Amino acid sequence: VKTIEITGKSGQSKIVIGESIRNLERYLPPGRAVIVTDHNVRHYYEKDFPDWPIIEIGCGEGIKTLDTVQAIYRKLLELGADRSNFLIGIGGGVVCDIAGFAASTFLRGIRFGFVSSTLLAQVDASVGGKNGVNFKAYKNMVGTFNQPDFVICDIHLLATLPEEERLNGFAEIVKHAAIADARLFAFLENNYRQALTLDFAVLERLVFDSVSIKAAIVNRDEQERGERRKLNFGHTLGHALEKTTGIAHGQAVSIGMAAAADLSVKRGLLPAAEADRLRQLLKNFKLPVSAQIDRQAVLDAIGKDKKRQGSWFHFVLLNRLGEAVVEEIAIDALEDVLDDLCVYQGNQS
Ligand SMILES: NC(=O)c1ccc[n+]([C@@H]2O[C@H](COP(=O)([O-])OP(=O)(O)OC[C@H]3O[C@@H](n4cnc5c(N)ncnc54)[C@H](O)[C@@H]3O)[C@@H](O)[C@H]2O)c1
Repeated sequence: VKTIEITGKSGQSKIVIGESIRNLERYLPPGRAVIVTDHNVRHYYEKDFPDWPIIEIGCGEGIKTLDTVQAIYRKLLELGADRSNFLIGIGGGVVCDIAGFAASTFLRGIRFGFVSSTLLAQVDASVGGKNGVNFKAYKNMVGTFNQPDFVICDIHLLATLPEEERLNGFAEIVKHAAIADARLFAFLENNYRQALTLDFAVLERLVFDSVSIKAAIVNRDEQERGERRKLNFGHTLGHALEKTTGIAHGQAVSIGMAAAADLSVKRGLLPAAEADRLRQLLKNFKLPVSAQIDRQAVLDAIGKDKKRQGSWFHFVLLNRLGEAVVEEIAIDALEDVLDDLCVYQGNQS
């Protein structure tokens, strides 16, 4: 079991990697607790939950709403929860984002912790103190920065995770390596087969290295005023592709990373051979590097991204594998990249 610490404005958070959900009780403060989980995670793992009341929410991105948060508040009131109550989110990124937000706002904030049950949640969603829900058409529009007391990453929970969900996590691991850790990148090149076939020792190293990278960045810039923007590598285009094509998050981010690497080469930053290595690694992880897209729809979606500042973007490029740089670029500069990226361009006639 390995532990990584994050020091946020709201307090200390520890991420425990390789711990079992069966030892969760050891991490809870004295007093009462309530569990928030989703239907699938409850189905597989309720037998391992400690004996506290369970609030079950549905499943998937569609339930990341204020309605679900209100349902949690109602249930907490019914259970007679007060400020000393601890909230435990057990699940993927959706459960962690909702549970973290509900805990941060109920009675002006109660303490909370997570057991993250998807690879994406272990390497990304449950680390870093961002929580919140979607509002109207906007993803993660309402939320807070607030660190959980602890996050348990039980690698064995990944055994029941569908392959497509695992790929969402691998895309973020490749991202962490590409922006911050050339050694991890090389390890991925040499061990992707073991990772894909769920070699637990390899997965544990990947989760540990990924969390270390994200935690170090969050420790330096919790509120995303500078360096934390590097974690958005591949995500400006990725979010737009996800929205306009409906492909999975990991696939969209993979295409976004390939495009951002191309733009980095065009700007004379990244050697072309390194962009090729990134593309090859993504393909090895069964992730796509191009797509059939509607160019205009993607540009419109980027224009509506809440992280845009005026007609300029903070766009993450690579200097080399293992080193990212954030540059301000105009939206026009993205149009060229989209042309190269598309194997087919909608609305072309
Ligand atoms: N807060 C952040 O910093 C941050 C960062 C990245 C992503 N996110 C958010 O995370 C969310 C995506 O997270 P996700 O990919 O974990 O999705 P998810 O929570 O919807 O989980 C994916 C699916 O896997 C199921 N599942 C979860 N654990 C399982 C297990 N062990 N075995 C079998 N099935 C299991 C879930 O029920 C769900 O159907 C998005 O809403 C995204 O915005 C947040």
